Amino acid sequence: MATHIVRRSDYTPPTHRIESVFLEFHLHPTRTCVTSSMRVAPVEGAPTTDLVLNGRELELEFIKVDGLVIREEKGQFKCEDSGDIVIAKIDRPVTIEIRNYINPQANTSLMGLYLSHGNFTTQCEAEGFRRITYFMDRPDVSTKFTVRINAPKLVCPVTLSNGNLIDEGDINEIWHYSVWEDPFKKPAYLFALVAGKFVAREETFKLANGKSALLQVWVEPKNADKTEFAMRSLKRAIAWDERRFNLELDLERFMIVATDDFTMGAMENKGLNIFNSKCILANPTVATDTDYEHIEGVIGHEYFHNWTGDRVTLRDWFELPLKEGLTVFRDQEFSSDMLGDDFARVVKRVKDVRYLRERQFAEDAGPMAHPVRPEAYEEINNFYTVTVYEKGAEIFRMLQTLLGREGFKKGLTRYLQDHDGSCATCEDFLKAMSETSGKDLAQFARWFSTPGTPRVKVSPVFDERAQTLTITLTQSNAKAEQAGHFEPLLIPFDIALFVPGIGALPLRLSGEPAARGISRVLEMTERTQTFVFEDVRRAPVLSLNRNFSAPVIVDYVQSDADLVYLAKADTDPFNRIEAMQTLALRTLTTMVEDAQAGLNLALGNAYRNAFSEVLKNKDLHPIFKAELLRLPSETRIAQEQILINPKTVRQALRFLREQIGKEFTNDLMMTFDDCVPDPIYSPDPLNMGRRALRALCFEFLLASGNTTAFLRARQVFDKAQNATEKLSALSVIVNSTVPAKFDILAKAEALWRDEPLLINKWLSVQATATVPMDKTSILEAVRELREYPGYNPNNPNNVYALILAFCQSNPGQFHREDGAGYRLWAEELLRLDKVNPIVAGRLARCLDNWRRFAPVYAKKMYEAMTTVYAQPDLSPDVREVLRKSLGLDVSN
Ligand code: TRP
Ligand code: ZN
Repeated sequence: MATHIVRRSDYTPPTHRIESVFLEFHLHPTRTCVTSSMRVAPVEGAPTTDLVLNGRELELEFIKVDGLVIREEKGQFKCEDSGDIVIAKIDRPVTIEIRNYINPQANTSLMGLYLSHGNFTTQCEAEGFRRITYFMDRPDVSTKFTVRINAPKLVCPVTLSNGNLIDEGDINEIWHYSVWEDPFKKPAYLFALVAGKFVAREETFKLANGKSALLQVWVEPKNADKTEFAMRSLKRAIAWDERRFNLELDLERFMIVATDDFTMGAMENKGLNIFNSKCILANPTVATDTDYEHIEGVIGHEYFHNWTGDRVTLRDWFELPLKEGLTVFRDQEFSSDMLGDDFARVVKRVKDVRYLRERQFAEDAGPMAHPVRPEAYEEINNFYTVTVYEKGAEIFRMLQTLLGREGFKKGLTRYLQDHDGSCATCEDFLKAMSETSGKDLAQFARWFSTPGTPRVKVSPVFDERAQTLTITLTQSNAKAEQAGHFEPLLIPFDIALFVPGIGALPLRLSGEPAARGISRVLEMTERTQTFVFEDVRRAPVLSLNRNFSAPVIVDYVQSDADLVYLAKADTDPFNRIEAMQTLALRTLTTMVEDAQAGLNLALGNAYRNAFSEVLKNKDLHPIFKAELLRLPSETRIAQEQILINPKTVRQALRFLREQIGKEFTNDLMMTFDDCVPDPIYSPDPLNMGRRALRALCFEFLLASGNTTAFLRARQVFDKAQNATEKLSALSVIVNSTVPAKFDILAKAEALWRDEPLLINKWLSVQATATVPMDKTSILEAVRELREYPGYNPNNPNNVYALILAFCQSNPGQFHREDGAGYRLWAEELLRLDKVNPIVAGRLARCLDNWRRFAPVYAKKMYEAMTTVYAQPDLSPDVREVLRKSLGLDVSN
């Protein structure tokens, strides 16, 4: 099959409008009947009157135009190989009626209409609607939807779709129906239908404008006890968007549904958000602190899409960052505002930046690198990437940094006004920002089109006589240079200067009459640019890219002493954590090199002392303290290597943990004892911090083989009433060498077997374990866990918890010189590709940085990829990923 590449430059506006559609469903697990009736009109001046309706795997019964059946034999329409149909000569407003059949039960792709535990649900973004019925399935075609669902009462007591319920009733003894009308026009990707056995938590919520809205969280009956937090988060999200951006809920009814079978996190269907259970269900016994944070963020994210995504949607799928990047930025701001406390807020930023660095920087450095707004794709599902989402969010954050909160808000308001009810591009957004602020954003726009992570080299020169500090900043971007289009970006670079003993210096740039504050966002616009600070009496310590004001790599080697100072005294708490991380990375990098050379490892003094000081400091907020003390992950350490050897990375990290555990046994024990969380579980920053700090102490202590710590961990596992403490205890025990870990794993299984959310955690703890199980390797353990009765190989959450967790998050065990890890990967990839190409596409990405690894590994990775690539009938998802990873050209 020839490779089909979709290019942004090939965009053509729609030839027709669909003014309204009436959809009628007769739900049946294997043969659902869909009848669609639409008012279609040609767009004036369109180059053709042929109407293309997208369709995939549909069984067509009839097409009628203005009541008359049209026929393929007569040339009135034709069916394309893709599944699309083309109806000839729609040159006037007509009514088109189509009937087709689909098989939800056979649908394992989880796109379109499918079954989950016998319940019907849909997923239409990006191109799932065409698996339900023939339609102009493109985001720039918006239509008013009315939906009638006919369903058997017994199996589907609840039937839902977007908008308002305008009618419902019985058809006969067995069947009933409901009719839903969405007051807002929307593209097909925002359509949703849910039917089955569900119960709701509901509340009437008063909006700021005085109106009220019915809020519902629909779940399977077994999950009725896990919806309280979701409802609370939804209310907080509504109130936050009102307050922060004056954006109101525009619906009388807003519904959320949870499903166990879902490829991604959640989906922003208008008025009917559908969630992966793990992103919505919570109570203290099934959700950890991290889950609580994540759930609040995702609920916010989908709700905020109601404006940024739904009211204003995308011109085409290339504009994805316009809704995703922007909405991630909004959800990050929401989560951060909900934390209140400054030290808790900064921890949220640290986590977001860590994720960006570990995943997005890696993507941007590898074969799947693409601009935040891609120029071409083979399969759009492969472009729901960390670059589009996370780097995208950084672009919107930088705009806020440049324009200020109020300026950004004004621009957003204008953008939404200008494009309400319509679709837009990234340029449209920047235009609104630029018009309302008066700032020229032409150069800034390059952030959307430049692939690769920019580097900023910092060269300070202190002149004692002139009392000036001259800082030269140089930006570069290897990826962009390779691709032949490096142009300097507008980089907001936040900076401060400190003199130990004195503190932060008031900043006066040469030419300015007086100092303005103690920190400053420098706007870098040139490839090389010099800034001269006046009145600098002593060589200062530089605090750079504060709060991570730009998603760049800073090239500037600071002395240990400077880092120790910043870790203690920087007025930007983000950079305090950053300094500690840099010190840790430095000592770990030396250890990796020593391990490589077969030398004995040793802990450097700078890090030891800094660690000690933080650990003994009782005045630090526990959540902040935990981040100061947390060691960088293996992924992060590996990024510092020229060629990655996962074994030595793991060895270094384990050594450092053990060493700290040994040297600081008493202080770690005391810290553990000092931060007792409140007995009643609450996911607030203080208690989350206490639990995080305790878990960290455990990690160090157990790494050093401390038996008292093991007994404590065991006690916590047995006694704790919440998932957070139970799980962190379980995980440190599993990562230790104590034989009792098998009993405890068995105990956990017995406790958790009826709860998929917990069984997934149980699987992940084992898949990511760093110490081999008894006689078998982790690889063998993973192979065996596939046979566990609670493991369904077609369920994305199960696959993520076991297979993806192992391949992506257990580098020390996955990467083996014998290549056995890669063989498991290939096996699972080929199996999954037949089941769910989106999930397969994600798994396929696990080897894309193969060129970064030491040759023993790289060679085996390459082999595994070529074996898979040689198979016939790969999905476009997997083919595109492997083609790019292997560096092959498109052959069409
Ligand atoms: N738009 C969803 C979000 O809020 C992403 C999404 C959910 C998705 N399900 C999907 C994307 C399935 C592709 C396929 O981020
Ligand atoms: Zn989104």
